[in-house]
Amino acid sequence: MTSAKWTLATLLVAAQLATLRVSLAENVVGRLAPDLGDEADEAVAARHGAGSDEYFDGAEATEWYDDEALGRTIVAYLQENPTRLGREELFLTSKVHPKNLGHERTLAAVKKMLERFQTEYLDLVLLHYPRCGDWIPDCQGVSPEGDWLDSYAALEDLYNAGQIRAIGLSNQHKIAYTSYSTLGGQWEHRAPYRRNLVSSNDVIGEIAAQTGKSVQAVTLLWALQRDVIVIPRSTSPEHIRANAAVSEESFLSEADLAQIDALAM
Ligand SMILES: NC(=O)c1ccc[n+]([C@@H]2O[C@H](COP(=O)([O-])OP(=O)(O)OC[C@H]3O[C@@H](n4cnc5c(N)ncnc54)[C@H](OP(=O)(O)O)[C@@H]3O)[C@@H](O)[C@H]2O)c1
Repeated sequence: MTSAKWTLATLLVAAQLATLRVSLAENVVGRLAPDLGDEADEAVAARHGAGSDEYFDGAEATEWYDDEALGRTIVAYLQENPTRLGREELFLTSKVHPKNLGHERTLAAVKKMLERFQTEYLDLVLLHYPRCGDWIPDCQGVSPEGDWLDSYAALEDLYNAGQIRAIGLSNQHKIAYTSYSTLGGQWEHRAPYRRNLVSSNDVIGEIAAQTGKSVQAVTLLWALQRDVIVIPRSTSPEHIRANAAVSEESFLSEADLAQIDALAM
């Protein structure tokens, strides 16, 4: 796997809104990004074994992520496999927690990220949310130093200094987006559902049965064929390999795509 495969195509900055576009030409779903947590060791090894691009989607937010564990594992993995995998073959992403909105706070947050991953640069840093709302646990009672524009200016400074190779925004509107919960993972945590509305969907299940694919493969193909950037999360070596290989499967028919389009979730 060469770093040339990383086809971050364009970074557009317009009216203070950045749009990060990742080329959809190939293997975007191979760029897997588990919330690794305690399962980091196994998942990193599996991803390497699967030959998939080494994409890690992290975040400061300890509510949902564990960058400390991810950093420890990646550093250890690079030390143990110096001839098999280099830093340039990894694509490290992290996200600034909204409690750190503000120019100085964001600079300090990224400095910690660099220390955590023991790296000179991060491939992509996003602002996780445009504001620190009460629905985010670590935001309750917090008044950030500044707003997302101040933070974005800090990311631009770090980008110009070569410490971040691409910058962008997460959970904002009117920009190109990377989907999450594509495989339904987030529904399992949301009341009143508490179950995976994608893997249990009858229409997707029927298409899967008719095409001989897994429900997850159908879902990922639909996203790819509809030009949605998708990062499936998985800690299972078997699933990681299957997801990395999905772009090699036959495509869905337009009729099947239309059926999935019609689902309102
Ligand atoms: N920016 C944000 O605010 C935000 C919010 C949420 C998530 N995200 C990111 O979005 C990405 C997707 O994460 P997500 O939590 O939304 O989950 P997801 O990808 O919708 O679903 C993950 C679930 O699907 C299962 N799975 C994955 N591949 C499978 C396969 N081939 N067959 C069967 N089951 C499979 C996983 O189980 P196994 O582990 O057993 O495979 C896991 O339970 C991650 O990179 C995450 O960091 C970002």
